[in-house]
Amino acid sequence: MRRKVEGYIFDLDGVLTNTSEFHYLAWKRIAEELKIPFDRKINENLKGVSRHECLRILLGERNPDSSLFEELLARKNSYYRDYIKRITPKSLLPGALNILDCIREKGGRIAVASVSKNTDEVMTMLGIRGKFDVILDGYSVKKTKPEPEQFLLASKMLSIVPGCCVVFEDSSAGIEAAKRAGMLSVGIGSSKRLDSADLVFNGLDKIEFNSMLGKLERF
Ligand code: BG6
Ligand code: MG
Repeated sequence: MRRKVEGYIFDLDGVLTNTSEFHYLAWKRIAEELKIPFDRKINENLKGVSRHECLRILLGERNPDSSLFEELLARKNSYYRDYIKRITPKSLLPGALNILDCIREKGGRIAVASVSKNTDEVMTMLGIRGKFDVILDGYSVKKTKPEPEQFLLASKMLSIVPGCCVVFEDSSAGIEAAKRAGMLSVGIGSSKRLDSADLVFNGLDKIEFNSMLGKLERF
């Protein structure tokens, strides 16, 4: 029997808005200050994972004491928060408003599930809070992506079983979490990097909604 997709779960950073670039710039400053090699390739591993885990990845074998570790986390966040001051509704990525409207027209329910502890503020600055039935951020669960916990909580709060939910993600950690949650997944970005997703598009604006839905419901 064909499944009916009813729950739509969006990652925030890098899917609805380009804040992933601000995370990159903030980590780049930290890496420069610590004289640790860092580039966009390494940055791919930081996408979708918690701030704490990002710092662990960045530091590699280096093991600073906990007060320096905490200070670095706070410093990165203050750099990041400087960048996000410039967010306005115009910072939504192309296609974001359109897909949210298409989902509403079909009667679908919509969630944001982001690991970022700055989700609330970013959503408010984008002016899109009212478009979501559920908003989950980095405070909502203990185990973050690639663990499935946050997506499963979103499915519960939307009252839609995991098999009828689809996740939109730009990170491989997020695609893995969607798979582990038993959900459909749509990668947003390069198909090379996100090849385990059910479908991949180079941006929300590349999605033709009804055709995507037809494909998803045939899986
Ligand atoms: C995710 C980003 O959405 O949020 C990660 O993809 C980031 O790169 C994570 O580390 C945590 O964000 P924050 O705002 O809590 O530092
Ligand atoms: Mg992301």
